[in-house]
Amino acid sequence: MTIIRPDIHWVGAIEWALEHFHGHELSIRKGSSYNAYLIRDEKTVLIDTVKYTHAGEFVASIEKQVPIDKIDYIIVNHAEPDHGSALPLILAKNPNATVICSKGGEMSIKRFYPGKWNLKVVKTGDSLSIGKRTLRFFEAQMLHWPDSMFTYCPEEKILFSNDAFGQHYAHSSRYADETDQCSLWQEAEKYFANILTPYSGQITRKVNEFLALNWPIEMICPAHGLIWRKDPVQIVKKYMEWASGNCEKSAVVLYDSIWKNTEKMAHAVCEGLAEEGVAYRLHSAGTTDFNDVMTDILRAKALVVGSPTLNNGLMPTIMPHLEMIRGLRFQKKLCAAFGTFGWSGEAVKRIEEILGGSGFTVAVPAVRAQFAPHEAELEACRNLGRELARKIKAA
Ligand code: FEO
Repeated sequence: MTIIRPDIHWVGAIEWALEHFHGHELSIRKGSSYNAYLIRDEKTVLIDTVKYTHAGEFVASIEKQVPIDKIDYIIVNHAEPDHGSALPLILAKNPNATVICSKGGEMSIKRFYPGKWNLKVVKTGDSLSIGKRTLRFFEAQMLHWPDSMFTYCPEEKILFSNDAFGQHYAHSSRYADETDQCSLWQEAEKYFANILTPYSGQITRKVNEFLALNWPIEMICPAHGLIWRKDPVQIVKKYMEWASGNCEKSAVVLYDSIWKNTEKMAHAVCEGLAEEGVAYRLHSAGTTDFNDVMTDILRAKALVVGSPTLNNGLMPTIMPHLEMIRGLRFQKKLCAAFGTFGWSGEAVKRIEEILGGSGFTVAVPAVRAQFAPHEAELEACRNLGRELARKIKAA
């Protein structure tokens, strides 16, 4: 439990040993937290709950302040189980509490946690007086679900943003300005790249709509990770930058190889990029963390994918990456393909089809080599890298 402001307490839970999130969609390197906040005014308000696995410590934290049955309002900014699955336990102890949610939240609460709850649906512009303080609501659809909502307290200038602006980052501190900035921003960017990229257009519109309200912000309290207290709007500006599709003039090279021949081609592509002064990140698909690849792609202008042809298609290690790339709908990016083959050679065409159908522009013709690349094909790969680099710099 941490005091955020007088009578405003963090009552969430920290999961230090978490390895994956959303099933195996997202790798977790630094744990996470499920942040919930308790406001004690004339009314007692709980903002969000936690994952059911941490319900016991959550209830204990709240009850250091107030008995559960004295909570007047529970605000559910988003009902996904990492934030909502302790809700039934709280409501079992206090069935008279009013649960405040968006229209989308009403549906997700009824589906995830069915019961005869006292639900109150709010929309953007609605507010609730809780005594000395007021709570205003803002529907933040697709940041990152249709039910997502922000809650803002004007007297405190605090925004409770739920998933938006959070990071999977377990830490003894509760504040972003008290931790290593490199780790913090890596986790914030990874979260955006892997969870929010598909909704970039809606996010841009929603954040602009929110900023137009001109609500002053001294603190952003997300539902994962650390609270933004020093220049809190810096993370909002980063979201706008990431959602814009603007990026570095760099490349990601992703490959897998059977006998290290496609790997030789990958290195030749990298040599070509380097000769033209374009930075790159090289990933071996079978050993890298695919969420790190997605984060690198968000930051880069181009993606080059190499695979041997296997059974008339691609190496199976490449496919999870391409499926994730398809779903994330990156914007304004270039791509190219390369790979070895034995007798049929469909891999590069398949890569171009998938990336071309995922919003990428095929910028340079593919390079193929039968069985093993000879110097001419390695030079063709260097040329692919050089030509792509020139297009990256010109973009
Ligand atoms: Fe969308 Fe943190 O759950």
